[in-house]
Amino acid sequence: MTLDTDFVRAQFPAFAEPSLVGQAFFENAGGSYTCAPVIARLERYYRQRKVQPYAPYAASQLAGAEMDEARARLAAMMGVAADELSFGPSTTQNTYVLAQAFRQWMEPGDAIIVTNQDHEANSGPWRRLADAGFEVREWKINPESGLLDPADLENLLDDRVRLVCFPHCSNVVGAINPVVEITALAHAAGAFVCVDGVSYAPHGLPDVGGMGPDIYLFSAYKTYGPHQGIMVIRRELGNLLPNQAHYFNAGTLYKRFTPAGPDHAQVAASAGMADYIDDLAAHHGITGGAVTRAAGVHDLMRAHETALLQPLLDFLKERNSARLIGPFEAEHKAPTVAVALNRAAAEAAAQLAGHGIMAGGGDFYAVRPLTAMGVDPERGVLRLSFVHYTTRAEVDKLLTALDDIL
Ligand SMILES: Cc1ncc(COP(=O)(O)O)c(C=O)c1O
Repeated sequence: MTLDTDFVRAQFPAFAEPSLVGQAFFENAGGSYTCAPVIARLERYYRQRKVQPYAPYAASQLAGAEMDEARARLAAMMGVAADELSFGPSTTQNTYVLAQAFRQWMEPGDAIIVTNQDHEANSGPWRRLADAGFEVREWKINPESGLLDPADLENLLDDRVRLVCFPHCSNVVGAINPVVEITALAHAAGAFVCVDGVSYAPHGLPDVGGMGPDIYLFSAYKTYGPHQGIMVIRRELGNLLPNQAHYFNAGTLYKRFTPAGPDHAQVAASAGMADYIDDLAAHHGITGGAVTRAAGVHDLMRAHETALLQPLLDFLKERNSARLIGPFEAEHKAPTVAVALNRAAAEAAAQLAGHGIMAGGGDFYAVRPLTAMGVDPERGVLRLSFVHYTTRAEVDKLLTALDDIL
């Protein structure tokens, strides 16, 4: 079975938008197009349900029910309970709040581990725990390959480590880290695990319950949804960490780490992300429980993306004027492809714009990994990122344009 990209693209109004015709979109890691069910729900919410939710009148009941639906359906697809999933303004904000909770919970002499492969969102807020006297250990990437080696993590772990933070997939290296293996290592040493899934989730929602991390974060606006951060916090950890919300909300797990009042409309509209995955499953004959449907859709997306990715990697690794960051084999990589050039990457992105290619150049807030790999963050990298709605014709168009500018 292969992914029906005509069906897929019909679910995204952007592909029917006259102002975007002729533009091939390769900056999906920055933010994806939004699927039609999310847009429809957002509009319906603003037209029909834009009232304080959970009051006894009909519009309010519908609003609250739709917010609950979003949490319950996305949580089910990720293999966790509905109250283990919560929404915050962004992943950066979510890690900031979680770091405050850890700061209050940890004891003198405790340590955490962070990587230098992460986007700053899953790095800086944790590193600031050093200001509170906690030891921060860095799990370093290989400066040539950009990869994290679990053997190096083993050397950093001991009974003082309370938390290990790492990315499911870096937004510049693109390598898919073995979450199950890393989580097992951390758990064996008695540490909790926080995974940044922002660059992975757009390629298929993972079965977080099955994989085992205690925290899994991703951003809905890069996963065909509205501008929200989504976090899974498993019950044991969520109840252990001190409540960060109003004191009277401490008893509700999904409220404990979201001190801000939620964006009701966007939370409700996130149910459209589940609609989209279910629509894809139904169209491709994938049946079963929520995790099975999400996994089936994940595998379809992954197969399509991998087939499109390898020719791009093959093309780039042959170029003397470009240093391809991260793995050269599509099977080990998400379709988030960064290349360092001997000039400012933003210039190259501007040239690509002239060829009808939407891409970006810069540091993408991955200053630490770029620096560790010897890439000047001022020059940055040209990032070419795509997802399952991208077609072979668009990749061919990209290759032609790259041939011209590199
Ligand atoms: C891998 C990764 N983690 C975290 C973030 C931060 O997400 P947010 O914009 O929701 O704060 C990004 C955003 O680019 C990202 O790419």
